[in-house]
Amino acid sequence: MIDRRSVLKGFVKNATILPILAVVGGVGTALLSYLKPTWKFGDLPSTEKPLNKDKVVGTLEEFAKDYDFKEFIFTQVTVEYSARGRAATDILGYAVRIPNDSLKAADVGVGPSGLRRGYGETEYKGQKYSIVVVSRICAHLGCIFEYHTPEQVCSGFNYCGGKTPMFSCPCHLSVYDPAQQQDVPGAGVLAGKVVSGPAPRTPFPFDFEIKGNQIVVKSYG
Ligand code: FES
Repeated sequence: MIDRRSVLKGFVKNATILPILAVVGGVGTALLSYLKPTWKFGDLPSTEKPLNKDKVVGTLEEFAKDYDFKEFIFTQVTVEYSARGRAATDILGYAVRIPNDSLKAADVGVGPSGLRRGYGETEYKGQKYSIVVVSRICAHLGCIFEYHTPEQVCSGFNYCGGKTPMFSCPCHLSVYDPAQQQDVPGAGVLAGKVVSGPAPRTPFPFDFEIKGNQIVVKSYG
């Protein structure tokens, strides 16, 4: 016969053990999820396997004349060795139309996707377009730069040597000319020469294609 005392004892025992089991189970599951491989054997991430989604950042109709520009946000997806497997970062960018023949496409460095880094040319409806696409992260210390008229650059950024719009950074007054090129060690010739201030190199380029009338960004850096 079951007496009241043993029923009470059993209840107290379960009431003590069950929360402990729940905590151990929860922590164990979390730990195991970190041990579980993110990629299957033979499925290791490679640079040939794009993780980003292509992003249409604009159409050529939006760049009717030289120095027309558009800002955009691109989500760069990279491999991360954790239970999540990947990390997504939003990167601000600018696309700018520059005068034809400012840069020689053949000179511009080629990125991992086989595209010219940060620069593309096309013929569309009888017009030639030369487009620069770069991130807005300043190559000096990572502030976000703006696109300004030559008057604004002269009055606010300590550089009065230009007659065209430029990228200018409010933090330490670096100024970049999207229509001039600069040889960047390890990356090749890129658009966005530093014409003033402490930035050590051009802005970081996006790899992009011009498909029909669409400017399609594929990758960053
Ligand atoms: S962060 Fe842009 S100039 Fe220093």
